[in-house]
Amino acid sequence: MQFPEYRGRRLRKNENLRRLVRETNLSVDDLVYPLFAVPGKSVKKPINSMPGQFQLSVDYIAKEARDAFELGIPAVLLFGIPAKKDESGTGAFAKDGIVQQAVKRIKNEVPEMLVITDVCLCEYTSHGHCGILEKGQVQNDMTLEVLAETALSQVKAGADMVAPSAMMDGQIAALRETLDENALEDIPIMAYSAKYASSFYGPFREAAESAPQFGDRKSYQMDPANADEAIREISLDVSEGADIIMVKPALAYLDVIYRARQEFDLPLAAYNVSGEYSMIKAAAQLGWLDEEKAMMESLTAIKRAGADIIITYWAKQLAQVLNK
Ligand code: PBG
Repeated sequence: MQFPEYRGRRLRKNENLRRLVRETNLSVDDLVYPLFAVPGKSVKKPINSMPGQFQLSVDYIAKEARDAFELGIPAVLLFGIPAKKDESGTGAFAKDGIVQQAVKRIKNEVPEMLVITDVCLCEYTSHGHCGILEKGQVQNDMTLEVLAETALSQVKAGADMVAPSAMMDGQIAALRETLDENALEDIPIMAYSAKYASSFYGPFREAAESAPQFGDRKSYQMDPANADEAIREISLDVSEGADIIMVKPALAYLDVIYRARQEFDLPLAAYNVSGEYSMIKAAAQLGWLDEEKAMMESLTAIKRAGADIIITYWAKQLAQVLNK
């Protein structure tokens, strides 16, 4: 069909028509809400670089999880900022570590909420790298053991799912093996499979106090120029036992999300990262664009590209819009 028989505008005439033919709809069911746990009591410290987001002590984090659950959000993703960092990131797997405490508190107060924990060392190491260092290099296989121990301690604290984000080779297999050995074969793994060395993590590193103290993450996170490699990384994670695969960041990598959707049939998550959130917040604060519309457009694009699950700092705000 061609113009004048076909007129695309006929179905765009009013909102009811547009609703009927809309191909992509966002749902609260798809959302994961990231939260930052800090030591202390009654702490709710605004994160400068991420307007609307806070570092929360465990009492407040449980409250925030409750609010999110009441809005219909099914899951939170926890990050922790320990009181002390050290060379080998021991705070990551401490029995009374900050994330372990936060998990316990949330599962106590909001047992219905699904709690996912980020498994990485960068928030816990004094050098800010995601793994164990030797001679200034991140050591892959030594790091695997620590990541597995971290995941195990988080699950023992009550985590429902673990999400390894360190981009070490073999990390999914290492976690799966350790969990299975501990009779935790029913705990799913959400793999940060295609995680890029991205400038869009900038605001998060202020939030999590996790910027590398020297160098960068390019020896473990992916080169933004590569997409075939993302497919290889995802294949490996699938073969190692990933239950959910992830592409991160989301907006600058919609092609990767799209390809992952075509090539794999596992649930696919996309992480709408801090920079993607904060740049829209900043532009909105300057009056340069409409935050709600830009949020809806960004998140719809991520879903349209093929993501099933969207990890976003806008989770509560979006839920409020969707529940209206
Ligand atoms: C930890 C981790 C990072 C993010 C999630 N997990 C930071 C990084 O790799 O430097 C970024 C999330 C965001 O920017 O919102 N490795």
